[in-house]
Amino acid sequence: MLARLSARIDSSMSAGKARAFFAPGRANLLGAHLDYNGGCVMPVALSKGTYAVAALRADGLLVAESEQFPGERVEVPLRELAPGRTQGWSAYLEGALWTAQEAWGRLPGIELQVAADLPMAKGLSSSASIECVVVRAVADLLGARTGEDELIRLAHAAETRYVGVRCGILDQTAIFLGREDSVLHFDCTELTREHLPLDGRKALVAVVDTGTARGLAASAFNQRVAECTRALAMLQEIMPGVACLRDVRRADFERSASSLPVVLQHRVQHVIDEQERTDRGAAALRRGDLAEFGAMMTAAHDSLRDLYEVSTPELDALVSAAVSVPGCYGSRLTGAGFGGCVVALVHPAARAEFDARVPRAYREFCGRDTEVMWFAPAGGPRELPL
Ligand code: GLA
Repeated sequence: MLARLSARIDSSMSAGKARAFFAPGRANLLGAHLDYNGGCVMPVALSKGTYAVAALRADGLLVAESEQFPGERVEVPLRELAPGRTQGWSAYLEGALWTAQEAWGRLPGIELQVAADLPMAKGLSSSASIECVVVRAVADLLGARTGEDELIRLAHAAETRYVGVRCGILDQTAIFLGREDSVLHFDCTELTREHLPLDGRKALVAVVDTGTARGLAASAFNQRVAECTRALAMLQEIMPGVACLRDVRRADFERSASSLPVVLQHRVQHVIDEQERTDRGAAALRRGDLAEFGAMMTAAHDSLRDLYEVSTPELDALVSAAVSVPGCYGSRLTGAGFGGCVVALVHPAARAEFDARVPRAYREFCGRDTEVMWFAPAGGPRELPL
């Protein structure tokens, strides 16, 4: 694939050697919708993601193509990049270049040939994966010695300021801090991080696609963010010390919940419970207790369905099918919800059974075929030999 991408680079215009880069996708195992509420998240980076062959150009242009979107070639002067200029796949790439130029100054021109082996718009962060591979590529092509936290900030700003999704820091952090055989435990307020072991001999990450589009994902996602912002503002009137929903103590909330509309009560309840689940999940992984960790994942799904209301009947059906397989520790929807995939943690000995039973149950449920994708937690963005 890299040879194919690199053959497309217009060498007559390139102002330097073409180089190849990769950034993974991610699946979040615990801490759903906690990042923008200041809580803890527990994602893994996946072994599939986005590949980019990149070369600087001397003519001030951005030239970009994606194998996933044939015929949608981008050719635009870099100085014309501006939020709202475009939508779709290239907005993520442009956003990353736009923030990179803010940080490192105007680029002389750049060509990017992109391909992905990650299913798109399925809750596996294919969009953040593009942002991260571009930021990594530009930093390396310029020889910028920029630390990971700043690269995360740039990739995240691409999404919030250029694309216009009010997402938290989960996706870009999960991607940049991904490590083999580890689950990241990241505190979105303190910015502390811990890599907790996930032994591949005891657990594999399974991802199963509902095959349904994530209906209204961006607008419904922004609506959840707005609901949390509103709930926080109302609670701050009675709890002045609270800076984010994660700070709300269960006992205080129980006393004052009724002052909130019921929908907002449910959103806050999810945040409080989910934060507790990540605390318990992290403690469980530290002592190697995968059964407890998996139970937290499945409980998280119930809460996403009932309190946060971001699940769908198809996601619920896949989670039920997954957890009915002996050897599956737990399962939940991954990403923001509203469609896309579920993720499950499964003992390797149960893999064949899982492969057979989950797609069969899903076909019985809705007549649609699906298949299981298997992953081990993988490392973050990196240059690949070309
Ligand atoms: C999307 C957002 C993330 C996070 C998750 C839900 O993936 O991009 O920032 O909020 O949803 O956990």
